[in-house]
Amino acid sequence: MLNQNQIPDTPKFFGRRKGRVVRKAKQFLLDCMLPQMKITPDMVFDAQTLFEIEKKEICLEIGFGDGQHLFGQALRNPQNGYIGVEVFQNGVANLLTLISGIKEGDNLPDTVDIHEFQVQNVKVFDDDVRLLFKALPDNFFDKVYLLFPDPWPKNKHAGRRFVNPDNLKEIKRILKVGGLFRIATDHPVYKRHVLRTMHNEKGFIWTAKCGDDWRKEPKDWVKTKYQQKAIREGRRPVFFDYKTI
Ligand SMILES: C[S@@+](CC[C@H](N)C(=O)[O-])C[C@H]1O[C@@H](n2cnc3c(N)ncnc32)[C@H](O)[C@@H]1O
Repeated sequence: MLNQNQIPDTPKFFGRRKGRVVRKAKQFLLDCMLPQMKITPDMVFDAQTLFEIEKKEICLEIGFGDGQHLFGQALRNPQNGYIGVEVFQNGVANLLTLISGIKEGDNLPDTVDIHEFQVQNVKVFDDDVRLLFKALPDNFFDKVYLLFPDPWPKNKHAGRRFVNPDNLKEIKRILKVGGLFRIATDHPVYKRHVLRTMHNEKGFIWTAKCGDDWRKEPKDWVKTKYQQKAIREGRRPVFFDYKTI
């Protein structure tokens, strides 16, 4: 059988998809809860249909990891709709844990109904975001978050970095004019890579007016797991906000 990396016309993915073990509660959430929140590229992407009611802003988070930022934003902003994308199964399960409160060791119910949870404004695509891009309409999102993408710091791996002209073309297309594209990174090589690559992109302007605008966490920020690890290990995160023109 072909795996996804061998199917023609699908992009090669460089990274981990499954953890070694998915524990019992997480597997339960993946089986019972994820299907109620999951989106697929064959759906109609209309904000009202997707979120049942009209949402003020529609936001996309690419590679949400363990989901802390996505969950925090969705909790603070019930008026907005969020699409989170993550290929790593344990990360998806962790987001579901945050939303449902169901943890390892709990007595598991027979099933769950996502309408019972406080956070109801999140949809999930549990695969490579590049497979979703072609389904997303133009001018759809108000905000796109790319937080601590894998840095691939070696020169020979530079082609794997997510910030590249092909992905930026899609992000520009799916963002509304004046929409926000936020990139956070803690890696010196990736910092330079982002500044250089974004400088060459005509469709975005960097909003920073002074050092604090990119060295300090933005006002609406929610800390991520990867960010906390970086700080513990002495690396300094930066936050680049771009607007589409
Ligand atoms: C370094 S981690 C950062 C996770 C999270 N944003 C954080 O700050 O804690 C990068 C994440 O991006 C995910 N990722 C990488 N490429 C992706 C892609 N093409 N589509 C979806 N997720 C992707 C990885 O699985 C990983 O969880």
